Amino acid sequence: MIIVFLGPPGAGKGTQCKRLVERYGVNHLSSGDILRRERKEGTELGKEAQGYMDSGQLVPDDLIVAMMMKEIQPASNGAGVVLDGFPRTIGQARALDEALEKAGQRVDVALNLGVDDDKLEQRITGRRSCPSCGAVYHMAFNPPKNGETCDKDGASLVQRSDDTSEVVRHRIATYHEQTAPLIDFYEKSSLHNIDGNVSIDDVTGQMFAAVDDVKGKAGM
Ligand code: AP5
Repeated sequence: MIIVFLGPPGAGKGTQCKRLVERYGVNHLSSGDILRRERKEGTELGKEAQGYMDSGQLVPDDLIVAMMMKEIQPASNGAGVVLDGFPRTIGQARALDEALEKAGQRVDVALNLGVDDDKLEQRITGRRSCPSCGAVYHMAFNPPKNGETCDKDGASLVQRSDDTSEVVRHRIATYHEQTAPLIDFYEKSSLHNIDGNVSIDDVTGQMFAAVDDVKGKAGM
């Protein structure tokens, strides 16, 4: 099964993808996580991406498409894959469709997690993550039990460098200009809208219902 996860920055895509992995056994490919790994390792791609990411712009399509195509084919075997943050432009979506078609595959469902703009900044600036295991918290909505340390391994939590108010506003504007048009792109084939304004558990309930529906209809 191939799932595309759409939604503005801070909507809760990463949080919900972890739950898709637990329930359906799919692989999780996050373009943002892959780019952050490249930056940490100091690769050429990481160095090129840094300026775009830190100013809230998208990394150019050619770099992203090449990076994601290497990962998608192996990850889409077996239980399948959820793509988190990719595609993010119409050009990326077309490149994905072409590559999948060549492999005899297609996007089975595009989950569109809608959240009102006024909630996004609060979600992003309150986010903290564990540099060691990747667990994600929110200081108000999903707080760790002890100060700013990870519940799972006790590591000190960190804030992403692009999670400042100023950069968040650029990321939201970029989303509306370049990524929101994908809602129409997938509307014709595989779109399921999810209300992301509600609690984390309520979002999960809607998401599982949508995926179960798609799997049921396709006999998966
Ligand atoms: P990326 O890492 O993909 O960031 P993003 O899309 O901006 O999304 P986030 O990771 O910020 O948010 P999320 O939706 O996963 O929310 P989360 O679950 O953490 O991209 C970063 C950058 O990389 C881009 O700006 C760009 O430069 C580049 N890039 C990446 N992909 C690219 C591509 N395809 N093309 C070009 N450039 C690309 O939740 C947020 C917080 O809210 C957490 O603290 C969480 O606990 C909390 N929360 C979650 N759900 C709820 C809820 N229902 N109620 C209350 N709180 C909630």
